[in-house]
Amino acid sequence: MRPETIAIRTQTERTGEKEHSTPLFLTSSFVYDSAEDMAAAFSDESLDVNIYSRFSNPSVDEFIKKVCLMEGAEDGIATATGMAAVNACFMTFLSAGDHIISASAVFGSTHAILTKYLPKWGIEYSYFDMNKPETIEAMIKPNTKVLYVETPSNPGLDIIDIELVSAICKKHNILFIVDNCFATPAVQRPIGFGADLVLHSATKFMDGQGRVLGGVVVGRKELVRDMYLYVRNTGPSLSAFNAWVLSKSLETLYVRMDKHAQNALQIAMALEHHPALNWVKYPFLPSHPRYDIAVKQMSNGGGVLTFELKAGLEGGRKFLNALKWLSMTNNLGDSRTIASHPASTTHSKLSEAERQAVGITPGLIRLSVGLEHPDDILEEILQALGASSPLNPNA
Ligand SMILES: Cc1ncc(COP(=O)(O)O)c(C=O)c1O
Repeated sequence: MRPETIAIRTQTERTGEKEHSTPLFLTSSFVYDSAEDMAAAFSDESLDVNIYSRFSNPSVDEFIKKVCLMEGAEDGIATATGMAAVNACFMTFLSAGDHIISASAVFGSTHAILTKYLPKWGIEYSYFDMNKPETIEAMIKPNTKVLYVETPSNPGLDIIDIELVSAICKKHNILFIVDNCFATPAVQRPIGFGADLVLHSATKFMDGQGRVLGGVVVGRKELVRDMYLYVRNTGPSLSAFNAWVLSKSLETLYVRMDKHAQNALQIAMALEHHPALNWVKYPFLPSHPRYDIAVKQMSNGGGVLTFELKAGLEGGRKFLNALKWLSMTNNLGDSRTIASHPASTTHSKLSEAERQAVGITPGLIRLSVGLEHPDDILEEILQALGASSPLNPNA
């Protein structure tokens, strides 16, 4: 079967009720036929039985299985949020005295774990510039255990050659983790390019309608086993209800990502030379600095684009206020188009230098392009650009 079919047809075994849509196993724990069976469930680790939904649950397992098949991975674990997935990776594979190398262009909360919490536990980090992968090798130390990237990155849409970084990691025996949240497996499969573990905030395009939080990490069986034990014991497990929602959403991931990308490319091309903007960035625009790598490792440009308003910070506020129906919120990956202005919102607590380091300029707008008609989205953006332009006497 092809991945599009697998995403739709992978399902928990049908119960005696003969349901068509997948059932939801909303239960905290599971029962046994005898005291001996119950004892064996706890003592024999090779038994594939459900004990308690912090450990495993059929709805959660269905979601994990689909993501594994879509990413080309052996096994996976699911978590309550994307950040729980990131944190579970770090907690499982790093110990006091270890070193992690990460791209500096990572999601804000990942930056917080790397810079605030890991050092507190005796784990050091180094940041490299995604646009300078040639600097990575010089940062490697004998205690470097993990290399972490997001590609495309949030919100800067920086892109790195996964195959190239994987070769460096293999040479130095370093675990290579890729946050594939912006692309999803429908667009990019990092394991095929040599990543060891791939993680997602399933909250974004995997859900696709802004309803539930979730996270997932997939990779080789022996790596996932260690993570499973971490999650099982410390408790950031995905709820069965959210897993059911996410698994149903994966049925439409491929068609949704195609349409998100079609709309995003059309809008990026239409805005590229707009007089109110300094630039437009989108992975599949030939003007993207890593366009050659984007087309090598992604099947389309995904659903997120950014642009920089010439009018800077104040222009960003005015642009958001000029929107009539497009959503102003910090989430992304929704069927509804979302605009956000990182400098005045999600990244307002960072210093100007920190914002610059991750590519967040005062006038940067991030657009998560939804599934509405692209002409409607474009008209809405163009009217907001016009209404907020410094050349408009009413702006
Ligand atoms: C690239 C990336 N990774 C991780 C996360 C964290 O995900 P969650 O909000 O589900 O914890 C986000 C959230 O925006 C993200 O954009």
